[in-house]
Amino acid sequence: MENVLNLPKLVLLLVSLKILVVRAIPQSVLLPPAVATINVNNSTAPSTRFGEHEYAYVSSWPILARKLGSVSAVAIDGTGNIAIFHRASHVWTLNSFDSENRYQEATGGPIAESTVLTFRSNDGALLKEWGANIFYMPHGLTIDHEQNYWLTDVALHQVFKFDLDHSTTEPVLTLGTRFEPGNDMYHYCKPTSVAVLKSGEFFVADGYCNGRIVKYTAEGLPIMSWGRNSFVLTRTFTLPPGPVPESFFAIPHALTLANDRALLCVADREQGRIQCFHTGNGTFHSQYSSPEMIGSRLFSVKYIATDGGLLYTINGPQFELNAKPVGGYIIEMSSGSVVGRFQPNNTKHAFSNPHELAVTDDGSDVYVAELDPQMVHKFRRITRATSNPGEHTSSSDTYATRVNGHLVANGMSSVMTAGSIGIFSIVSSIIVTSLLVILMARVVCFRSGQGSSRLDEVPLRSMTLDEA
Ligand SMILES: *[C@@H]1O[C@H](CO)[C@@H](O)[C@H](O)[C@H]1NC(C)=O
Ligand SMILES: *[C@@H]1O[C@H](CO)[C@@H](O)[C@H](O)[C@H]1NC(C)=O
Ligand SMILES: *[C@@H]1O[C@H](CO)[C@@H](O)[C@H](O)[C@H]1NC(C)=O
Ligand SMILES: *[C@@H]1O[C@H](CO)[C@@H](O)[C@H](O)[C@H]1NC(C)=O
Repeated sequence: MENVLNLPKLVLLLVSLKILVVRAIPQSVLLPPAVATINVNNSTAPSTRFGEHEYAYVSSWPILARKLGSVSAVAIDGTGNIAIFHRASHVWTLNSFDSENRYQEATGGPIAESTVLTFRSNDGALLKEWGANIFYMPHGLTIDHEQNYWLTDVALHQVFKFDLDHSTTEPVLTLGTRFEPGNDMYHYCKPTSVAVLKSGEFFVADGYCNGRIVKYTAEGLPIMSWGRNSFVLTRTFTLPPGPVPESFFAIPHALTLANDRALLCVADREQGRIQCFHTGNGTFHSQYSSPEMIGSRLFSVKYIATDGGLLYTINGPQFELNAKPVGGYIIEMSSGSVVGRFQPNNTKHAFSNPHELAVTDDGSDVYVAELDPQMVHKFRRITRATSNPGEHTSSSDTYATRVNGHLVANGMSSVMTAGSIGIFSIVSSIIVTSLLVILMARVVCFRSGQGSSRLDEVPLRSMTLDEA
């Protein structure tokens, strides 16, 4: 029994080890120089406009008598109300999937409670609920311009489109094969997110194991697909040491469209970056990361067109020594600089594992879904973007800290050479591979007896020996 309880810790240790070794290297060093020049601004002189996007935490939102499960997604509908997708009593643990990504708890049936709840934005009142007895492990929720709801379920390996005027129990479109993981055009493997163009064409991020983006016609016929899985724990090939190339994903975890730029941007979770692609042809356009401020993991991104284009992001818990605070960060697209931040202002509601976010078109409100604590947060903007620096007098303390943070991080990156990165990568890959073999043996031996160790979102899927 003791061994059984230790397994999750061992896994975390493994993940930490790899992340420690590799992620200690700032991402900017890993990026190809050409890309870094375009996107990573000269941060030795941080933006003096940092205080332009300040948010206050709105506590006691929403109002709900019952307890939520892990909230995996949040989205804003056409009338400005807020919909969430949550897992109720289902929890993603180490036991939820086998080594081939098959869901192990299907016999328990779907979630019996409502999984989609809609709240009024201003007072947080519950307006509507549905989605009982359909889903097993909710992940993504997108509401398109026609008010269709697109939901992904990582246990079912499926993507659903619901037209609520038609039915809240029968989807109008279902993609993927029920409970069957795969990587062809009829199968997904733990799909994460959907984005829908005004034309009706849409994109699916697929997902935890395949590391690809698939584009479809409005009717749901595949048009094209791009991307390869480069996540260190699951990739099936050797990535040369050095920069992680574009169009490689270590869990494409969330999607957002910049319609005015004809771009699709992807939160490349375990590589801590946002990659943007032309919506027409899937060609890489640009990428954004900030190892100095945001860190090595990035769970979601949402674009708004105001102020020249802003990317609202949330990072996640990091395991390295210089971990960055878990929180929301706003990246200015033109410069690549972090120009704002949002976080709960009390420890009771502190961010722990934020998973998805939603932003109103004008940036006035931000909503963040949390896996654990199982809740949804609301933030309201208290300052407007403006070019008059005299209006921002209150943030000098924060500002000084940030300046230091930048300088420290920049100092570190200048000592790193390409050679040392190469050696780091090779050595760490050898260590991790050996540890994975040990781990796999333990998983096989102890699978039957494990309790409900909480490891959701530590992507453990395919530590499959046959792939290694
Ligand atoms: C950053 O700014 C300094 C001083 O203005 C300049 O010398 C340096 O080349 C810049 N670096 C980049 C990457 O733009
Ligand atoms: C993809 O589309 C963009 C925008 O239309 C264009 O600039 C780019 O050249 C295209 N790339 C390829 C490879 O066709
Ligand atoms: C860096 O940011 C400054 C100020 O926001 C901007 O003027 C400059 O063009 C940016 N540089 C790059 C390379 O994006
Ligand atoms: C958090 O912010 C809200 C809104 O600004 C404020 O009412 C509340 O007192 C703050 N709480 C703490 C603990 O600072």
